[in-house]
Amino acid sequence: MRLHLSSLAPAFALILAACSAEDLPPEERIVAPILTTEEAFDEFTFARPQEARVTHVALDLALDFDAKTIGGTATLDVLSAPDASEIVLDSNGLQVASVTDADGAPLTFAMGETVEGKGEPLTIQLGAGEAKADKLIVTYTSAPEAEALQWLAPEQTAGGQHPYVFSQGQSINNRTWIPTQDSPGIRQTWDARITAPAPLDVVMSGIIRGEAEELANGQRAFEFTMENPVAPYLIAIAAGNIDFAELGPRSGVWAEPETLEAAKAELVDTEAMIDAAAGLYGDYRWGRYDMIVLPPSFPYGGMENPVMTFLTPTFIAGDRSLTGLVAHELAHSWSGNLVTYSSWRDGWLNEGVTSYIENRISEVVFGETRASQERGLSFAAVEEMVAANSATLPLTAMRSPAGTSPFDTASEAIYDKGALFLHTLESIIGREKFDPWLRGWFDNHAFQPATSEMFLADLRDNLIKGDTALEESLMLDEWVYGTGLPANAARPDPAAFAAVDAAASAYAADKSLDAAAWGEWSTAERMRFLRTLPEALSGSELAALDRTLGLSKTGNNELRFLWLEAALRNRYEPAVPQAEEFLGRVGRNKFVAPLFKALMGEGEWGRANARRIYADTRGSYHSFTRGNVDELLGT
Ligand code: BES
Ligand code: ZN
Repeated sequence: MRLHLSSLAPAFALILAACSAEDLPPEERIVAPILTTEEAFDEFTFARPQEARVTHVALDLALDFDAKTIGGTATLDVLSAPDASEIVLDSNGLQVASVTDADGAPLTFAMGETVEGKGEPLTIQLGAGEAKADKLIVTYTSAPEAEALQWLAPEQTAGGQHPYVFSQGQSINNRTWIPTQDSPGIRQTWDARITAPAPLDVVMSGIIRGEAEELANGQRAFEFTMENPVAPYLIAIAAGNIDFAELGPRSGVWAEPETLEAAKAELVDTEAMIDAAAGLYGDYRWGRYDMIVLPPSFPYGGMENPVMTFLTPTFIAGDRSLTGLVAHELAHSWSGNLVTYSSWRDGWLNEGVTSYIENRISEVVFGETRASQERGLSFAAVEEMVAANSATLPLTAMRSPAGTSPFDTASEAIYDKGALFLHTLESIIGREKFDPWLRGWFDNHAFQPATSEMFLADLRDNLIKGDTALEESLMLDEWVYGTGLPANAARPDPAAFAAVDAAASAYAADKSLDAAAWGEWSTAERMRFLRTLPEALSGSELAALDRTLGLSKTGNNELRFLWLEAALRNRYEPAVPQAEEFLGRVGRNKFVAPLFKALMGEGEWGRANARRIYADTRGSYHSFTRGNVDELLGT
């Protein structure tokens, strides 16, 4: 551990002093530091970790599918500064029945006022002197509407027979089911014992301990443990009628039996991806890499829950062309999970660095052509963002403005511009120096929080080393803190899309289509073509596009989405039932929100369709997707 003690506030130095080796709990758990610089500050937590912080969470919880609640106890290990008499946790809608110390003696607690988007502070009195509590037992239940959890009725699953539940902690939703300090800079180890009704299986973002234990009344108990300190948004759970298929010595996939074979076939490159990433950035430090393919209401493409990536089933195209998603979630095992932003404002440190690594993995596993096409798509997204509108200019900075909700950042700024920043560094510095530096960044900050400032300081200390010409050519501060697209951006190779861009120009000029060429193109090339279609298309032109390219029949959800978007923005009536079917089946926000947005931009025709479709589909969406569509429709 490399700690800069001189830069630490006195209170934190005390906490560090309090966790020297002999004070560690018997299991020798690692206590990760807390950063105290201004840049590291997280305004979305009520916690004051420099006074008192959680170091370990032990959950003992039961899943109640009828009540749609998770309840039981959370036992928290607490480290407090000598003069601190209370600890503040994050809650959002938790029903807390009691808080005691390790001996069961009640502790005074108070739930504060709700702050919109943030939840409530749960303040617990620790006592003083000899009797001061260093372990708390919180007995509680989550609310049925807890944002982190989606409870699915059997008919929302592929099998249709059993209920299902999954959690999504990022960004600040785990406080709706776990009473802890819910901030990415306050890392915690954790373990859990979860009971669920048979025959459901439970998975978590920790290593499973032993076999399920059969209990009375048809319940079973599962135990998990995470010995690496992780940001608390990474604690995740899913339960349903799921089976497991092995992919390799350290990887496998869970899915409903109806989906498992297709999932397994799509994921055959997983071991190669792990090898590629480990070859570039150092050992995979988490033991296993398993995935679960969730029902289609999962609101994201993927979520990098440690040792158990959560995936949308919509990435299954049958030809492994959308598995960049897996490379992405796997890459978070270094950028995001090993080294984690301390505040949500540094989104790019997780997502931009990850998108860069995703591309490096793609290059090794699928080759330079696919990787360079994926860079081309991403670069175009940055250009479109920058061209979009000056009102959103502040959001084009990689480090988000203070006050920005972690749900309201511009993904192009964080993912695409962030990745482009690293591609630019790589191209100026050269891989032979840049790759070892990035690997060193992960090694030196493993299992610790980080900030933009630290990333730049590390680059300057270990790579630039006073070379003023190099410093100037990199434009580091402009990239991270500035808006727009810096002049030194590494431009994608125009050759990546030469053929498809020529075809798109021909189409724009005389609406000529080459079905044979389309048949040869990769998914990235097809996406490029569909994204560069003229905005306005007539009904007969859309019909010809569909007929010639088979768009309404494609099993590739990225292409289906782009087709529906083009069709709806042109009020193409035959696409309405197709959109209705898609929106009724899929809850991934990236697809759902833009399709409703396209409809809402089409006058009364579109609005009436949007309202009619949403009346049927709203109940099936996760709270994240639902919240976004509610806003679009003014519901
Ligand atoms: N960590 C993100 C998902 C996320 C980000 C959830 C912010 C909540 C707040 C995940 O790794 C991700 O980026 N998913 C993308 C994958 C894509 C970029 C390949 C997604 O869901 O679309
Ligand atoms: Zn990500």
